[in-house]
Amino acid sequence: MLTKTRVQEFLKEIEVDDLVQNFQVMGDDVYIDMIAHSPAMHEKKKLEAAMKQAFATEFGDQVVLKLKITSPEPSQVQQNQIKGKEIPGIQNIIAIASGKGGVGKSTVTANLAVTLQKMGFSVGVLDADIYGPSVPTMFDTEAEKPISVEVDGKNMMKPIENYGVKMLSIGYFSGANQAVVWRGPMASKALNQMLRDAAWGNLDFLLIDLPPGTGDIHLSIIQEVPVTGAVIVSTPQHVALADVKKGIAMFTMESINIPVLGLIENMAYFTPEELPENKYYIFGKQGAQFMAEDLGIPVLGEIPLIQSIREAGDVGRPVALQEGSKIAEIYKETAQKMIESLVERNKNLPPTEAVKITTMAGCSTKK
Ligand SMILES: Nc1ncnc2c1ncn2[C@@H]1O[C@H](COP(=O)(O)OP(=O)(O)O)[C@@H](O)[C@H]1O
Ligand SMILES: [Mg+2]
Repeated sequence: MLTKTRVQEFLKEIEVDDLVQNFQVMGDDVYIDMIAHSPAMHEKKKLEAAMKQAFATEFGDQVVLKLKITSPEPSQVQQNQIKGKEIPGIQNIIAIASGKGGVGKSTVTANLAVTLQKMGFSVGVLDADIYGPSVPTMFDTEAEKPISVEVDGKNMMKPIENYGVKMLSIGYFSGANQAVVWRGPMASKALNQMLRDAAWGNLDFLLIDLPPGTGDIHLSIIQEVPVTGAVIVSTPQHVALADVKKGIAMFTMESINIPVLGLIENMAYFTPEELPENKYYIFGKQGAQFMAEDLGIPVLGEIPLIQSIREAGDVGRPVALQEGSKIAEIYKETAQKMIESLVERNKNLPPTEAVKITTMAGCSTKK
């Protein structure tokens, strides 16, 4: 005689108990209401077939399984899609992305990193822009080479450190002027090593400086890495462009589902060094604001176009390190907004784990 307890045990055994909403056993009939992992028809069919097979094998033919499989609620879909392997010790992984190159993504990354560090967080930067690595220059660490250290009996890469920020870049491995020709799989492998075979230690934030655009590297990163959220950098000229929207769409598409924490508008206005209170909106005002509203994401900050930003970047000392300066203040506000957005995100969603996808047709840009 089949008992409810026996069926309950069995559902646990085959690891579907979390999908079962309720069930009843009446003689040889077993009624089960379940929620599928995804609303896709084939998922439901697959689940049904697997259940029938499992019950027949366990209880024989006389037991009749009466299954009702329903689609998950949208919020449940989201939770189920976020899967994968976390990186121990790293709390928040923020991907910094842009639709186009040259908008100041690396500059923003470097300045956010030192700002967060000054705020008391432990911060790492992973330069994933393998085509144009600029982290070594921006942190004045071009001559450094990562050494190997032993952690728990395993050889690990020790990140380079400057201004209290840990960093790794492909730029530390190849000769500085040597053009590196990377194909997707190679690049993805190198990045994975810098992520997982490195002694990052405990980090509050790992900022990933992504290459511009929405190509293969992005896909391999967001497939492999438990990205907590993405920050999009744009300039006013590019803000209205399809590139930015495409960049955002890449993170928000259903199979990826990485929350976009917000938009940083770089070179938003011009401020001459000698007139620090003046703002000239050369490329127009509020474009980012309008677009952000349109897309339902917050603007985290407006960074002015100022000469010292470029100069500081060139000499390898991010401008936000200049205590008491206006620009340091702007970066601090931006970092705070990012954290607010992150806290909001962490409240509403489970910890992001790597997204598992196999192909993503229609999402890469051909140059
Ligand atoms: N707000 C800014 N004001 C002045 N120059 C800037 C600013 N942001 C970036 N730059 C300069 O613009 C150039 C491109 O910036 P970079 O961060 O390398 O862009 P990306 O990483 O998007 O390709 C660099 O020379 C940098 O110093
Ligand atoms: Mg760059």
